[in-house]
Amino acid sequence: ALLLKDVDGVYEQDPKQNPGAGRYDSMSWSDAREQAGVLVAPKALAFAEDNKLEFNIGTPGIPSYTTIGAKTSKAAPAKSPKRLKVALLGCGVVGGGIYRRVKALPERFEIVKIMVRNRQKYLDQGYKDQEITTNFEDVIASKPDIFIDVSGPIEPALTFTKDMLSRGVHVVSANKQAVAEGGKDLLEFAKDSGAILAFSSAAGGGMPVLEMCIREAGRIVRVEALLNGTTNYMLDEIMTGKSYAEALKEAQDKGFAEADPTADVGGADAAAKIRLVALLGFGKEITLDDIPRDTIENYETDGPVNGAVKRVASCWRHREGFNAALELKDLSLNNFIAQAEGEEAHAIFYFDDGDSYKIRGKGAGRWPTTESVMADLYDISAAHMKAAPQ
Ligand code: HSE
Repeated sequence: ALLLKDVDGVYEQDPKQNPGAGRYDSMSWSDAREQAGVLVAPKALAFAEDNKLEFNIGTPGIPSYTTIGAKTSKAAPAKSPKRLKVALLGCGVVGGGIYRRVKALPERFEIVKIMVRNRQKYLDQGYKDQEITTNFEDVIASKPDIFIDVSGPIEPALTFTKDMLSRGVHVVSANKQAVAEGGKDLLEFAKDSGAILAFSSAAGGGMPVLEMCIREAGRIVRVEALLNGTTNYMLDEIMTGKSYAEALKEAQDKGFAEADPTADVGGADAAAKIRLVALLGFGKEITLDDIPRDTIENYETDGPVNGAVKRVASCWRHREGFNAALELKDLSLNNFIAQAEGEEAHAIFYFDDGDSYKIRGKGAGRWPTTESVMADLYDISAAHMKAAPQ
């Protein structure tokens, strides 16, 4: 178990005050009671010692920590993450969340440029003059280590993503349309560039659907999932008697819908996410036209249903090939997919040995999606550790 703190382990002295302070790779329960009382309650340490429970103290995204257990090691200077320059493409609901989270981690990240369409709008909101640009040349000139794509449309995002990768800049993308369109070619391009292309946040919001696809690729035969938070939220609200227009307005106000919600209600947003699931989970490249889609545009209900109406995204392989669909279904409440509420996302993975696995999470919204982006940023930061101070 890893106990998450804002330091990557137990130090001799506060590393923020004294950057040369030594860190312990391991520390005994009793020494920790004396020296790590601010990190772990002494009562918890006594409990761990009585039960001989080992655990680690660390921080997200730094692949080193202090193991609390039977013995204490010698303290030694620790590696720390290099400060990485970050540029953003787009700064809407999710971009604004990332901006705040990244600004709160000044030792690890620095925002160098934000490319938007309407510069004045952001200056009026209080963003700094030198941060905001409408020109990609300025982004290049700011020499970012990481380029974060939180824009909506495929272009110019896909062209910029490739440009950045070809310069060795890592890309973190929440832009499902661009990554789905880039497909295998983009994954290859990233591999050849040597830079990292990460897009955990492109599907599922805070639900780790793409992580599952990568981990279980090869043994998955079918995936069923709710992949559009806006739709899930709206269908629930419409069932309780709200009008289509009211439900859509609420989904927009809550930050679930895209700037242009056509893709949310029409199904192109969920379809792009199915394409990513097909690519990572099955190694299949499919187009938007390969996915028959039910729209929820102007959806109305005329009374009670079997259980819950959901728009289920699925893809599956079979003897004759591979299929995908986005279908409105009236599901019994025994079904795990039907049990999702509001913007929540549920997914079921079926495997070739008959096994299955269920996951869930917040499917849309500023903070769940921001946290998915942060997870990718932490992974990249962990790949850029600088040597221990001498
Ligand atoms: N508009 C998207 C949705 C955002 O509603 O699911 C998360 O990808």
